[in-house]
Amino acid sequence: MTVDITSSSLSIGIVGTGAMGRGIAQIAAQNGIRVMLFDALPGAAGNAREAVIATLAKLAEKGKITAEQLAATSAKLEVVAALTELASAQVIVEAIVENLDVKKQLFQQLEDIIAADCILATNTSSLSVTSIAAACKRPERVVGFHFFNPVPLMKIVEVIDGLLTAPANAEAMLALGQRMGHTAVRAKDTPGFIVNHAGRGFVTEALRILGEGVADFWEVDRVMREAAGFRMGPFELLDLTGMDVSHPVMESVYNQYYQEPRYRPSALAAQRLAGGVLGRKTGRGFYTYTNGAAEPMPVAAVPTALPASVWVSQAIPAWGDAVRAIVTKAGVTLETGPAPSRDALCIVTPLGTDATTLATTQGLDAARTVAVDCLLGLDKRRTLMTTPLTAPGLRDAAHALFAIDGTPVSVIRDSAGLIAQRILACIVNIGCDIAQQRVATPGDIDRAVTLGLGYPKGPLGFGDALGAKNILAILESMQGFYGDPRYRPSPWLKRRALLGVSLLTEEN
Ligand code: NAI
Repeated sequence: MTVDITSSSLSIGIVGTGAMGRGIAQIAAQNGIRVMLFDALPGAAGNAREAVIATLAKLAEKGKITAEQLAATSAKLEVVAALTELASAQVIVEAIVENLDVKKQLFQQLEDIIAADCILATNTSSLSVTSIAAACKRPERVVGFHFFNPVPLMKIVEVIDGLLTAPANAEAMLALGQRMGHTAVRAKDTPGFIVNHAGRGFVTEALRILGEGVADFWEVDRVMREAAGFRMGPFELLDLTGMDVSHPVMESVYNQYYQEPRYRPSALAAQRLAGGVLGRKTGRGFYTYTNGAAEPMPVAAVPTALPASVWVSQAIPAWGDAVRAIVTKAGVTLETGPAPSRDALCIVTPLGTDATTLATTQGLDAARTVAVDCLLGLDKRRTLMTTPLTAPGLRDAAHALFAIDGTPVSVIRDSAGLIAQRILACIVNIGCDIAQQRVATPGDIDRAVTLGLGYPKGPLGFGDALGAKNILAILESMQGFYGDPRYRPSPWLKRRALLGVSLLTEEN
C-alpha cells in the first residue's frame, strides 16, 4: 500500500530543523499538511517552529496571507521531543547534517519506529540516495527529495529514485512536492542529480576562460548578463554562493564521475578556497564588497577614431551581413571585394574558432583582424576578440565602430569560442549528456534548471534557440583547438543536430 498524499489528514515528520527543515515545514503546513518537527539539538525544533510562524506573520502583515491562513498554518506545526513520537507519520523528510553515516543511522533508527508503508525521504544534495537506502531493511521506501535554499522561494524539488526505490513511492513524493506548491521533477540517483549536475558548465568554463587570461572576470560577467541574459554572471554567482560551497560541489561531481573531463574543476578555485577568498561572506571574492555592495569595476573608455575602411568576412553570410549593416550605418567605407585592401580593418565572425585561426585560414593579415561574436545577435553587448598580433590602433577602431550606436562592447583576447559561445556550448552539452544518461526527461531537465538555477532558458532550450548545429560546431572546433575531451559533444546533441530536430526530442 502506498501513502495517500492527497489525504487531508496527511502528516509528515521533519528531522533536522535548520535552514532547509524550516523551509520544508513552512510550505508543507501552508498546504494543509500536519508537520511534526524533530531536531537532535534540544530546543532547536521549538525555535524552528517559532521562526516559521514569525515568517508567516510577516507574510500576513504584508497581506500575502490572511489571518485565518496564519492561524491554520501555525496549528499544523508541532514539535516532538523524541524520534519515537514520529510513529504516526506517513512520510519522514530528513534535513540533517550532510553526512552519509549519520543519515544511515537515522534511517535505521526510524525504521524501527515508523509504519511499514511510511516513506523515508532525504533532502541530501550530494550523497547517493542508494547509499543511504543501503542501511535500511526496506530500501524501496527511501526516496530523494531535494529542495533548494530558500525553500519557499525556490519552487522546485527533485524527486530521486535510488536504485531500489519503489516507483510508487517516488510517484507519491512527486505528488507531495506538487501539493506543497512546487514543481516536482524526477531524477535518477546520479551525482548532482539534475540541477547541481547541469550547473557545472556555467562556472567551470568561466573559470577556464579566466585561467587562460582571455578576459577579466568582470568582463565575463558583463557578457553573460547583458548578452546572454543571465541574472548574474558566473563570478557574481561564485561570490554569492561562496567558494567553500561551490568548489567542493565541483570536485564532488567530477570525482563521482571518475574524473570526467567535462566537470574538471579549476585550480583557480582551489587557490581561492585555500586563501579564504570565498566571496560575499568574507567581504572579498572575485569582487570586493563594502556594506554588501560590490566595488565598481573599470569600464574601458570608448575610442572615437573609426577605421578608414572595413572588410567583412562572408564565411557565415548572415553574420557577415549583420556586421556589414553596422559598418554602413556608421558611415564607414565598406569593402565588398573578395579580399580586403591593404589597409582595411578585417572583421571575422567565429563559430567556435579563434581569431587567429580564422585570419590564417581566410588568408587575412592577423595584425588587421578583429573577430566579433554574432551567435547571440548584435543588438546587446558585443564581444570583440583580437589576434595576438592585432594592431592596437585597429583594435580601438573596431571598438569605436561597434560602440558607435551606444551598444556596450567587451574586448577580449583570442580564444576559441569567445566567451558566450564557450560557456553556452558547455551548458548545452552537459544538459544533453544529462538527457543522454536518462537522468531525467528533457522537459524536466529544462524545468529544473530554469527554476533551480534561474537561467533564462534550460540547457536544451538554449541549444534549440542557438541551433544545435551551431553548438555542435562550437564544441567540435574547441575540441580540435584545445585537444581537450572536456569539449567532446554528447551523443544526444550530435544525433539531434544531425537529424535537425529539437534537443527536447525523446527517442520514439
Ligand atoms: P543546518 O545545519 O541549517 O540544519 C541541520 C539541522 O539538523 C540542525 O538543526 C541540526 O541540529 C540537526 N541535526 C544534525 N544531525 C541530526 C540528527 N542526527 N538528528 C536530528 N537532527 C540533527 O543544515 P541545512 O542547510 O538545513 O541542510 C540540511 C540538509 O539539507 C543537508 O543534508 C544539506 O545537504 C541539505 N541541503 C542543504 C541546502 C542548503 O542550501 N543549505 C540545499 C539543499 C539541500
